Amino acid sequence: MSTETATVAGQRTLKMRLWRGDESGGDFATYEIPAQEGEVVLDVVHRIQAEEAPDLAVRWNCKAGKCGSCSAEINGRPALMCMTRMSTLNIDEPITVSPMRGFPIIRDLVTDVSFNYAVARRIPAFQPPKLAEGEVFRMQQVDVDRSQEFRKCIECFLCQNVCHVIRDHEDNKESFAGPRFFARLAELEMHPLDTLDRRRLSSEQFGLGLCNITKCCTEVCPEGIHITDNAIIPLKERVVDARFDPVAWLGRKITGKPDPTPAAVAASFAPETLEQQQAARALGKVGSHPQTSGA
Ligand code: SF4
Ligand code: SF4
Ligand code: FES
Repeated sequence: MSTETATVAGQRTLKMRLWRGDESGGDFATYEIPAQEGEVVLDVVHRIQAEEAPDLAVRWNCKAGKCGSCSAEINGRPALMCMTRMSTLNIDEPITVSPMRGFPIIRDLVTDVSFNYAVARRIPAFQPPKLAEGEVFRMQQVDVDRSQEFRKCIECFLCQNVCHVIRDHEDNKESFAGPRFFARLAELEMHPLDTLDRRRLSSEQFGLGLCNITKCCTEVCPEGIHITDNAIIPLKERVVDARFDPVAWLGRKITGKPDPTPAAVAASFAPETLEQQQAARALGKVGSHPQTSGA
């Protein structure tokens, strides 16, 4: 920490307030450092680490907006430090850099994001159909484009951090997967080759209904993924179709199939056993994919 205020002649001084501490508590420490041309916030944090605070904990890797490691809150707004240019900030005022508030602190600017990996593990993997020898399945470009948008995710977890459902209610983490994983569920649910019905999973196991479409997640996504419009809303529509679509209801009445049961939902948590999935479907789990395409 420094109270040094001298600057190179004609050079501005940055007043950086970095959060220092650990899970037991902490506070902002102020560092004053000469401004330099063309820097991003991570550059300045690295200079502070190199020159004044060698024990400062900060996580980064690519410095190119691609690894998702340097997520933080800059002036209270969730952002990647390596992609936030100092020239976009008002350096007449102190600039605060704090760890993501939605996750437990490890130290200084580093948080424990393992919650996200635990959720990821609970999502059944992609399950392609068994194709016959020589059978070819062609995807339409619209299906490719949809998957590719979701696959731009760099797992920075800024969307998870900003979502008020878990940011303000730690206990909701038990039942709410969060926007990054709704994008994953939507990607799989709308994938024409995925054979698993993920609609009731999304609703009953991953808490899709708790999302009230505030779009905060979309606003902070550094990859520009339209999480709410292209993932969450279509997924919600499919969940509603599965439960309340009168045509589907009528079909179940005519065929004598029961409404989807909790047992069928539970069975769909064993992605390694396709047979169990098929058994779940036979139990009345809502049928095939709405967007299947191919030849
Ligand atoms: S739109 Fe839904 S998932 Fe995204 S931040 Fe708002 S409540 Fe969370
Ligand atoms: S969806 Fe966007 S904000 Fe969320 S983890 Fe992926 S890249 Fe980050
Ligand atoms: S260091 Fe990789 S995204 Fe910022």
